[in-house]
Amino acid sequence: MTAAALALPAEPVEVDALQVDALEVRFGGVRAVDGVHLTVGPQETVGLIGTNGAGKTTLMDCVSGYCLPSGGTLRLFGTEVSRTPPELRPYLGLGRSFQDARLFPAMTVTETLLVAVERHLPTGLLAGLLGLGSRQERAKREAVGELVEMTGLTRYADTRTGELSTGTRRVVDLTCILAQRPRLLLLDEPTAGVAQRETEAFGPLLRRIKAQLGCAVLLIEHDMPLITNLSDRIYAMESGRVIAEGPPDVVMRDPRVVASYLGTTEEAINRSNQPGAGPSAPPLAGLSRAQLLVLAAGRALPGRSRMSREQLVRALS
Ligand SMILES: Nc1ncnc2c1ncn2[C@@H]1O[C@H](COP(=O)(O)OP(=O)(O)OP(=O)(O)O)[C@@H](O)[C@H]1O
Ligand SMILES: [Mg+2]
Repeated sequence: MTAAALALPAEPVEVDALQVDALEVRFGGVRAVDGVHLTVGPQETVGLIGTNGAGKTTLMDCVSGYCLPSGGTLRLFGTEVSRTPPELRPYLGLGRSFQDARLFPAMTVTETLLVAVERHLPTGLLAGLLGLGSRQERAKREAVGELVEMTGLTRYADTRTGELSTGTRRVVDLTCILAQRPRLLLLDEPTAGVAQRETEAFGPLLRRIKAQLGCAVLLIEHDMPLITNLSDRIYAMESGRVIAEGPPDVVMRDPRVVASYLGTTEEAINRSNQPGAGPSAPPLAGLSRAQLLVLAAGRALPGRSRMSREQLVRALS
């Protein structure tokens, strides 16, 4: 038997969707990102947590190309993109949502999505001249129909985006990104400012999208129950650095992460971990008071966007 006959077909090498190495971003004297290493595997959902100003958005801006790093490298599906202009990165499979969904309020959901699909499947002047336009138009309407079904927007198809709730507008924004069929989806606080009921619907929605598109996701969220539930792994950042990385339950129990959220001393953390130190009624039984507070940090309070650090410390003491 020859060597060639013995040789097995090469295993398909699954390259990471994102590989970040020794990334650095400085704004004047501030090291917003300080030597970060991070990976997102193929089809993996990776969460990014950290208190306000930890560097999460800056890191995501480097991935999408809206911020140029002062050091380190970024690879999208194996291709080095550290200096690649943002408008070229979607061609490598990148899709990104923004905090403020910039939709035209007078356009209906279908019209909005047709524009997004047009960017992905442009009709083209030549096709129009050759009379192929109507076939492409049909294909686009079909694509929009599939998209609205996937993201549960069918009943809003003819509604103007200006008449939708913040949460539904976010879903429209997300659906526009999905029109590009991204292989890596970046989501920066998709549920910020969204009503609790719509926030709860976001988890199942993202799972449905992942099941249909098979994309990888990098997700920033302050809603801890949501991000722990959705992520395969979580990175916790503080002052530009990664302070913990691993499965969600391990990261949430990491004393450095708890201390970072509470902004308090090790002593306070130990005190809070003592048996009987906090509420232990089901379904959160088994979690320490400190862990409950970390979870609470992601919960919006009525009239406030988020529980403040002071409120957390007060609640702990
Ligand atoms: N364009 C900028 N110019 C100067 N400093 C900036 C700029 N953007 C961010 N920073 C600073 O960089 C640090 C990281 O900010 P970043 O927005 O990445 O934090 P974040 O983790 O996303 O916080 P949040 O949870 O509040 O969104 C902060 O100290 C912030 O003030
Ligand atoms: Mg941010």
